[in-house]
Amino acid sequence: MTKLHLIPYPDKVNITCGYTVSNPPVREFFSDELGPEAYRLLISEKEIFIEGNTTGIFYAHCTLKQLQLQFGDSLPCMEIEDAPRFPYRSFMLDSSRHFLPKEEVLRLLDILAFFKINKLHWHLIDDQGFRVEIAAFPKLTEIGAKRGRSHFGLVDEYKNNCGYFTKSDVQEIVAYAKERMIDIIPEIEIPGHESALLAAYPEIGCQNAPVEVVTTGGIFDNLICAGKEESFTFITKILDELIELFPYEMIHIGGDEACKRKWRACPDCQKKIKDLGLKDENALQQWFVVKIHDYLRSKGKTSVVWNDSLRGEKLPTDFVVQMWMGDIDLIKDFTSRGGKIIQSTTTTHYLDYPYGEWDAKALLNSDPYPDFLKDADSVIGIECPLWTERVVDIERAFYLMLPRLPAMAECAWTSKASRDNKSFCDRYETIAEYFKTQGIEGAPREYWFISPELAKQDKDAHHQMIYTPEYSAEMERQEAMMAVEREIYGDER
Ligand code: ACM
Ligand code: ZN
Repeated sequence: MTKLHLIPYPDKVNITCGYTVSNPPVREFFSDELGPEAYRLLISEKEIFIEGNTTGIFYAHCTLKQLQLQFGDSLPCMEIEDAPRFPYRSFMLDSSRHFLPKEEVLRLLDILAFFKINKLHWHLIDDQGFRVEIAAFPKLTEIGAKRGRSHFGLVDEYKNNCGYFTKSDVQEIVAYAKERMIDIIPEIEIPGHESALLAAYPEIGCQNAPVEVVTTGGIFDNLICAGKEESFTFITKILDELIELFPYEMIHIGGDEACKRKWRACPDCQKKIKDLGLKDENALQQWFVVKIHDYLRSKGKTSVVWNDSLRGEKLPTDFVVQMWMGDIDLIKDFTSRGGKIIQSTTTTHYLDYPYGEWDAKALLNSDPYPDFLKDADSVIGIECPLWTERVVDIERAFYLMLPRLPAMAECAWTSKASRDNKSFCDRYETIAEYFKTQGIEGAPREYWFISPELAKQDKDAHHQMIYTPEYSAEMERQEAMMAVEREIYGDER
């Protein structure tokens, strides 16, 4: 018997004798007893029997679909008992840098469900575009969802630069995701990455300075002013509308890469630091974020933040921290106090980097538990982000995601004991052929477990695509700005 071409591979598989009749009937038995996402699948000659709760039954059908791709209408008889390793298995889509419209988001959701990924972290707001309709503040999308061109290196300058999701788009996407057992976690960045928001409402920034929607990548110093009471009210009104649109437990409130230059020069921010007796601007960021978090708590929500928000005082442990880069000692401290984290380390999990940097094999072999972390319970799951500065269309997204996202799905779903990384490429081949018939084309097979020679070529090509003279000059400017930040705050990055 050949290996079953399943991804993620089930926890327990027992292949018995014989094959089913062609297209056997499927009988479902609803049961809450197996676990929140678990299922049993019994394939005998005359029928297929499925047991699980609503999610488990859905996942059993996902498994059946993959078996049919391999075997057609008559399946080998077997028993499968399956349940995920982690409850949080996630993909992040950045809709700000390039805007893939609703229909394409729906296609991405199909791919997530195919691999039993149960979260979409939706990065809707960043310097380069504000992408969701907020009724209380129409300029957020009238002004903040448009930019003239992009300078992200040698990518198509005008494609998918503008656009936003209306409330009805979001409702449709949420309903589609729900049918596929996917929760959507919207992200609003606070307090940094706010150029698009401040282009629309500069009065929420420090000293009402005019701001433009940004057209290049990187880090900027356009922060919401933490010293003004209006800023808090403004954010909570946006959150109220997001809470209405996204009926889930978690809301991501960002917190990464907040360059404090303007806060240091702002009388309102400096007064707030003094009045509250705070140590510095990092402490001000944390005070502001905790205030937002308390508001979300009062609405029954859990806040997720990037690990930068650990700087300042000790972050309350009812936050969930998304680990992406640096702050190791702070993450250690947070988890030792009982805090939970999501694993999405840049140098393995970020899908916008080329295969030459890390391939599907690197993801398969990655350990969700950072080596400095002893308490396994601290990790609730894994996420692969797709930042879209250089992802201008869905074809590029498919290329970068497939098959690295399925590799992550296997890491997040399949227990270590049931893993067989060597067979991954053969298993994925069957799925890749099916995807092609659906117009979904990932990277060619030689990139999945890439050779050192091809890796070098791939990295060089990527480097050339990014580092135009214009882009390099912009990066140098930003690096100098961040060097000042590191000097002031002693950040290791
Ligand atoms: C991040 O990549 N700036 C979270
Ligand atoms: Zn300010």
